[in-house]
Amino acid sequence: SAAEKGGYDTFMEKEIHDQPQAVADTLLGRTDATGRLILDELRIEPEELLNVRKIIVLACGTSAYAGMVAKYAIEHWCRIPVEVELSHEFRYRDPIIDPTTMIVSISQSGETMDTLMAVRYAKEQGARTVSICNTNGSTIPRESDAVLYTHAGPEIAVASTKAFLAQITAAYLLGLYLAQLNKQLFSEQIKDILADLADIPAKIQDILDRGDQIKQLARSMKDADSVLFLGRNVGYPVAMEGALKLKELAYIHAEGFAAGELKHGPIALIDDGQPVFVVMPSPMDRHSLHAKVVSNIQEVRARGARTMVVAERGDEAVSAYAEDVFEVPETQPMLMPLLTTVPLQIYALELSTAKGYDVDQPRNLAKSVTVE
Ligand code: G6P
Repeated sequence: SAAEKGGYDTFMEKEIHDQPQAVADTLLGRTDATGRLILDELRIEPEELLNVRKIIVLACGTSAYAGMVAKYAIEHWCRIPVEVELSHEFRYRDPIIDPTTMIVSISQSGETMDTLMAVRYAKEQGARTVSICNTNGSTIPRESDAVLYTHAGPEIAVASTKAFLAQITAAYLLGLYLAQLNKQLFSEQIKDILADLADIPAKIQDILDRGDQIKQLARSMKDADSVLFLGRNVGYPVAMEGALKLKELAYIHAEGFAAGELKHGPIALIDDGQPVFVVMPSPMDRHSLHAKVVSNIQEVRARGARTMVVAERGDEAVSAYAEDVFEVPETQPMLMPLLTTVPLQIYALELSTAKGYDVDQPRNLAKSVTVE
């Protein structure tokens, strides 16, 4: 009913607008008065967590892209090696696991069969298992040693939106918690990151308030038959998620690439009018990736691409080279996915709507895949 959709036309639109709350609620109650992270739910002894030599993130679909963001954050903050693997691939390849391996599964539903079976397999091999999950009491958290719930609230639309941002938020908290334990970050650094995280909900709201710009762009593109998405570092999984949303909702062929890979193949796809969405790294990125991606924009434009860019507010360098620039508020580079994902979600939603499709129930897809 309309009430369930909070006055929006679709659940997906409502859930996109729920995102400031989803992130805020996932952060809520996880710090003490002094600003230290408290993750009591993580019922694994600190000594055991300090013994972790490798983390393997297991997930499918959108949750696997949240896992890729987790890898960048946890390796950077904690200096613990992180692998990310699709659950269905992991199980059937003789992965190397021992008691110093920590499995972090990510699942909105907690019922995805592929992920459940992979977690069971890892447990049998002696790994510690942590579940990042949005559904209280579901199977995967019940079978895991510990759970870190995302508090996005029920997600009804088949294509995941608010659960994704909540998963990324939870992954950051896990990373910061491990860094607090193993002292790879100073407590002041952790506080700074937490303070920036606390500012994210208002920044998402700022993007939502300016959603019309991206909607107009989407409506003008309903005849597109292929869209490419480019990103680097944490923007790479965002590009993949943007492409996935477009496939799922608008049935448009879409691929997400690491921008650095462009010259190794994908650039052959570029011809006149090819739409390319670029997720810009922060101009403050410590590896100067920004300039490299500006070059990528110039390269695809020189071959006729129509470029659309999601960039940080005040990023002067891109405006000269892109047809459309959608700005997101500033935050630290590692946290950008919580912002840059949002315009891509709105874009896919609006394109799907413009094509007359059912955004909440896309063809051939299920909210939770409980068979192998
Ligand atoms: C299905 C859904 C996706 C979701 C994936 C993983 O394919 O259509 O939206 O990302 O399952 O689901 P999970 O509940 O494990 O996050």
